[in-house]
This record gives sequence, structure tokens and C-alpha cells, in this order.
Amino acid sequence: MTVAEFIPEPYPDVLPKGQVTWQAPSNIALVKYWGKKENQIPANPSISFTLDSCRTTTSLSFQKKEKLDGFFDFELLFENEKKKSFRPKIEQFFKRIEEYLPFLRNYRFLIDTSNSFPHSSGIASSASGMSALALCLMSLERSLVPGMTEAFFIKKASFLARLGSGSACRSIEGELVVWGSHENINGSSDLFGTRYAGEIHSNFKNYQDSILLVDKGEKKVSSTVGHELMNGHPFAGSRFEQAHENIDKLREILETGDLDAFTKLVESEALTLHAMMMTGQPYFLLMKPHTLEIINRIMDFRNSTGLHPCFTLDAGANVHVLYPEKEKEEVRKFITDELAQFCQNGQYIHDQLGKGAKEVS
Ligand code: PMV
Repeated sequence: MTVAEFIPEPYPDVLPKGQVTWQAPSNIALVKYWGKKENQIPANPSISFTLDSCRTTTSLSFQKKEKLDGFFDFELLFENEKKKSFRPKIEQFFKRIEEYLPFLRNYRFLIDTSNSFPHSSGIASSASGMSALALCLMSLERSLVPGMTEAFFIKKASFLARLGSGSACRSIEGELVVWGSHENINGSSDLFGTRYAGEIHSNFKNYQDSILLVDKGEKKVSSTVGHELMNGHPFAGSRFEQAHENIDKLREILETGDLDAFTKLVESEALTLHAMMMTGQPYFLLMKPHTLEIINRIMDFRNSTGLHPCFTLDAGANVHVLYPEKEKEEVRKFITDELAQFCQNGQYIHDQLGKGAKEVS
């Protein structure tokens, strides 16, 4: 599909007012997206697990303006309180997507949003938040465009979410989502995420993700600054190539269910992401002593038990521990007994693979 296909014909109908609510999940990348081109086009393809319980719920109420004033008009509530600091992000999002949703300046919106995970837990809510909002806006558009197919609805929601926050385009569907064009994945696109349709071994059914909250503070590096580090980065070219190769390797791992190979690939991806940050100009060190302590203990536990928990990281100090459902009891006990002490206030969240966003009636 091309960008032009997301620009709608003039709408035949006008909807005076209404309300929609969507819940969208967070996601965790196995092969990471790090580096982008203009218009939120990824420098390399990525693939992620969609999560289940870490979600954002967003209600969008809309009312047609009596007089068109040419402005975006929205109010934003986050966890029932007005949130001024989120306004610029939404304003920028609306600017980026208005070509594709030309009704945006014609309505007054109330955006009421909340997260299932604790406030300022250090878990990025931009992916679930932007995808929930994109889905609400698509529900409004669907009622203006009779006959819109479900497939188009999903694609365009992902396309719009990407313009809000790149990885948000992987938070629409489950359970694995690819974003970024890859020569061996049919239908993969730089413009939106697509559900991974390859074979997946039963070892990955209900795969678990426990998120260990090592540092709940504000992000030290914004995503924008982080992605920019890859422009002119001395290792950028080989990193982007490696991401393509790792997706090929992961396809095979997903098919065969090889958990040792999964560990090697996923952990190496996480460390490579951080290596890119540590070797950029300026350079950033986002892991904390407790991040390293947790990583080392996971490796030791794996060696001594033969079980398969592995770690991954996003652009921060928190650690995601991924493991098969059948090892849940032992790994969770290990987390409680050994790893929780390195989490801020002992906090962690158990989650697992999820099926994607859903509309809430
Ligand atoms: O979606 P952004 O721009 O916040 O970037 C997210 C990048 C990583 O989380 C570090 C990796 C990824 O693929 O999700």
C-alpha cells in the first residue's frame, strides 16, 4: 500500500457527536527498531510481542463544532486529571495525521485516557497510548465512511499510530507484529505493522513477560533523541543489516521452538540497542547497576537450572524477563526470591503475550 491510499475521499456523512473507547496494549520488541528516516519511517525492520495486561484505555468523545474555527480543539484527561504536559504531543500527532483524517479540525474532542500499569512506572505508555487514540479516531472515521473493511481499519489505525510514536504501530494486533519492510516477510511494510503470519511453535504459546521496574524515573533520553543518534552513527550500517538478518533467524526459531537460540538472539538484540546508545555521539548509559545485577542473575539461574528465562530491554533501565508458560512457576519464584530486591520499591508486573487492542462498549 502507498501513503496516498490512506487519504480519504470527501466524507458523504457528518456525524454530529458520539463516543468510542478502545483498549490498546503495550508491546516489547524482540528485534529492535532504533533509527528512523523522515516521517517516522524505520531504518530497519522490527518484530515484537504484543502484551496483554499492560494497556492504555482511551475514550474519545467528539462533538461537531457549530462554527468551524480552523483549530484543533481537544481536552485531555489522564487518569481523571487534566494533563497539560501531554498536549504538545497530541497537537503534533494531530498535525501529522490531519491529511489522513481531514475531519480533525471540525470536532471538539475530549480524550480521556488511563493506563493499567502504575503511573510513572518507567513503562513507556506512548505505544499503547498512541495506538488507543489512533483506534478511537478510526472508529470515528469508520462511521463517516460506510463499507470500510476491517483489514483497512486495522492497517490505517496502525499507520496513524506510527505517526504518533513509531513502535505504537505494533500495538494494534497480537501476538507478534512486524513493522518495517523485510524481503522474506510478505506484506511487511515501513508504513504500518502487520501481524506475523509465519508458523509459531507451541513453546511460544502464552509466552510470559515479567517487567522488573528498576528505575521508574523520567526517561533520560527521549526516543526522538535516541533515534537521532543513529544518524551518522559509525555502526549504523551494520546494525541495520544485522536487524534484517536477525529477523530471518527469528523466523526459524519461532518455527522450530528453539529456546536457546531465542535467548541468544533476544539478549543480543537488547545489548546491541544499548551498545548503540553507548557508542553514539553524544553517548548514553541507560542501564543501572541493578539492571546488570538482574541480567547476571538471570544468566546464572539459566545455567544452574536449564530453564529458559531471558532478558530484553527497551531504551531504559527496566528489565523484561521472557519465559515459556510451562516454566512460569519456577521463574516467578526466582523473580520473587532473587530479583525483586533489585526493583525500585520491589515492584514488578507479570504479563504475557496478548491478542491486541479491543473496542470497549
Ligand atoms: O516508538 P519509539 O520512537 O518510542 O521507539 C521505541 C524504540 C525501542 O523501544 C527502544 C525499540 C522498539 O523497537 O520498540
